[in-house]
Amino acid sequence: MAATYTTSVFQPGIFNNKIVFCTGGAGTICRRQVEALVILGANAVIVGRRMEVTEKVAAEIQQLRKGAKVIGLGVDVRDYKALQRAVARTVEDFGKIDYVICGAAGNFLADFKHLSSNAFKAVVEIDLLGSFNTVKAAQDQLIQNKGNVIFISATLHYYGVPFQSHVGAAKAGIDALSNALAVELGPFGVRFNCIAPGPIDGTEGMSRLLPKEMLEMARKSVPLQRFGTVDDIAHATVFLFSPASSFITGATIVVDGAAWHTGQRI
Ligand code: HXC
Repeated sequence: MAATYTTSVFQPGIFNNKIVFCTGGAGTICRRQVEALVILGANAVIVGRRMEVTEKVAAEIQQLRKGAKVIGLGVDVRDYKALQRAVARTVEDFGKIDYVICGAAGNFLADFKHLSSNAFKAVVEIDLLGSFNTVKAAQDQLIQNKGNVIFISATLHYYGVPFQSHVGAAKAGIDALSNALAVELGPFGVRFNCIAPGPIDGTEGMSRLLPKEMLEMARKSVPLQRFGTVDDIAHATVFLFSPASSFITGATIVVDGAAWHTGQRI
């Protein structure tokens, strides 16, 4: 994995004067998404549950481009009022919001017998309700600025993945939310799309879901014979926020090397 996002594919400055609001922005995947957008000209607000970590990551991303402004805010996406405050703070400090990434997520492996009602609720509330809360809190800005939203989905609800019923249900809901909002807010010029990452190297999700001894087997089971990288997700993000995708909304880009088509359940 390269140390920083490379601009070799996309033009520097394509996101000049654009403001990004990203939940889960201190996590591995979303961090690289924001890095890419900031390197290409955007300024950003990242929110996360762990305030100190989020502030630290924001300060590090800000270093990636001279003149960039990136701040981190401590917010639990289950708390709608806290998200409203974060959106208000963003507008106060940056003037507007153009792009929203709903990336905050929670996950663990749990078989149905040991998955409590509260555990199911926790994941659905972080992933699905948290995504709803984020776009709801930002809706005025999105409509005003013909905004663009990316939800981080998954592939595990395309088929049955054991021990992941909670996440599969939450991510299926996110896809449905994205499709409905693409239709409802399309006339206002707001776009909604999902990115569905497959196995992405070095992420918390991978370390939580895949035991180390299974890594090599899992890697070989991906048709492209490698795990994805955070840059693969960042490239898809740049494409979806760029004018190159201006007629794409209500879509899901699966970035998984065709892994889910094999039915290997990784
Ligand atoms: C079974 C578990 C559990 C586990 C927690 N719970 N961990 N049940 N197995 N390993 C249960 C608890 O017992 C409790 O139920 C309920 O879940 C809520 O737990 P809390 O700790 O009180 O909740 P909270 O602090 O809100 O924590 C949320 C969390 C946690 C999701 C449970 O894991 C978390 O904060 N994760 C954040 C980071 C994270 O998960 N990142 C990975 C993202 S990767 P009871 O009944 O006891 O009250 C990702 C990839 C998805 O999302 C796509 C994959 C392909």
